[in-house]
Amino acid sequence: MPIIGLGEWQNDDQESIERTLVNAIRAGYRFFDTAPIYKNEEYMGNTFQQLFETGEIKREDVFVCTKLGPNRMDPKVVSEACQNSINRLKSNYVDLYLMHFPIPSQATDDEFEYYPKHGEKNELLIDYNVKLEETWQAMERLVVDGLAKSIGLSNCSRDQIERILNICKIKPANLQIECHAYLPQQEMVDFCKSINIAVTAYAPLGTPGFGPYVKKKYNVDVSVPVLINEETVKSIAASKGKTPAQILIRFLIQRDIAVIPKSSNPDHQKENLQVFDFSLSQEEMDALYKLDDNFRYFPFNLYPNMLLHPEHPFK
Ligand SMILES: NC(=O)c1ccc[n+]([C@@H]2O[C@H](COP(=O)([O-])OP(=O)(O)OC[C@H]3O[C@@H](n4cnc5c(N)ncnc54)[C@H](OP(=O)(O)O)[C@@H]3O)[C@@H](O)[C@H]2O)c1
Repeated sequence: MPIIGLGEWQNDDQESIERTLVNAIRAGYRFFDTAPIYKNEEYMGNTFQQLFETGEIKREDVFVCTKLGPNRMDPKVVSEACQNSINRLKSNYVDLYLMHFPIPSQATDDEFEYYPKHGEKNELLIDYNVKLEETWQAMERLVVDGLAKSIGLSNCSRDQIERILNICKIKPANLQIECHAYLPQQEMVDFCKSINIAVTAYAPLGTPGFGPYVKKKYNVDVSVPVLINEETVKSIAASKGKTPAQILIRFLIQRDIAVIPKSSNPDHQKENLQVFDFSLSQEEMDALYKLDDNFRYFPFNLYPNMLLHPEHPFK
């Protein structure tokens, strides 16, 4: 798995995906992260297919990660969900298949609706019967059946990972978690290293497009700190002749954490790969660690019943 990949959330337009992926492949990206809820697997699949057909790249040159939605965690439907993603991606397999979020929801017909709502009530249709361990066992069968080369977890707590480790025949290969200078996740990273689980940081730049995206999509104002504008980040960047984004990415890869910054901008895409020609000193790393205030852009707290669920990973 390459240490830098391209995140694909907030990009659900066919033309934009095509442009983004072609630019990214030409810039050198080989690792792509998506999920059913991003509603772009099919567009990615179409673009990959064209690139494979023209011979620009081969399937085995790319590493594609997608995810099992919380609405498809019932062990009986895990294989079908994975196969649907594979079909949309126009492939025969995925390189990495992650359990997206450990709170199972009730399956409705709409596969893309991760958390269907309970009529008019301000709560989600949560499924209290599905056990994470059983979902994991169904995911293990994906590896045996050749649908997934490897399987992993996302947004799980240490306790949940340990429960999976206690029952698994195939260990999680990867844990994808929110991780950036406001939330460096050092304990979790150390734990994963100690048991040989690779860690991938999502929102590595502090998801600066989140506020504008929520405003455009839901007409809701969210007020969140903007990591990329932090003075510490900007001053380290200026002193190194690098950009704030490059500093934030280097902060993670220097700790052996993979990153999946999202960008549809060709200049940003290139910039985000140019992080191997410098390093951060211990003082600079320490200054970035000092930004830690345990802040999550993704607390998954929009609905009270979700927050109260016994499997909610962020207590
Ligand atoms: N497992 C999960 O639950 C989960 C949750 C959230 C996200 N993810 C994954 O992680 C990926 C990354 O997270 P994210 O998209 O939330 O946040 P992010 O990668 O931290 O930030 C993406 C934003 O940063 C901008 N950007 C990218 N490069 C830049 C640069 N060099 N300078 C300035 N701005 C730059 C992008 O805009 P432009 O496009 O204009 O460059 C975009 O608005 C997602 O796309 C998704 O694949 C997973």
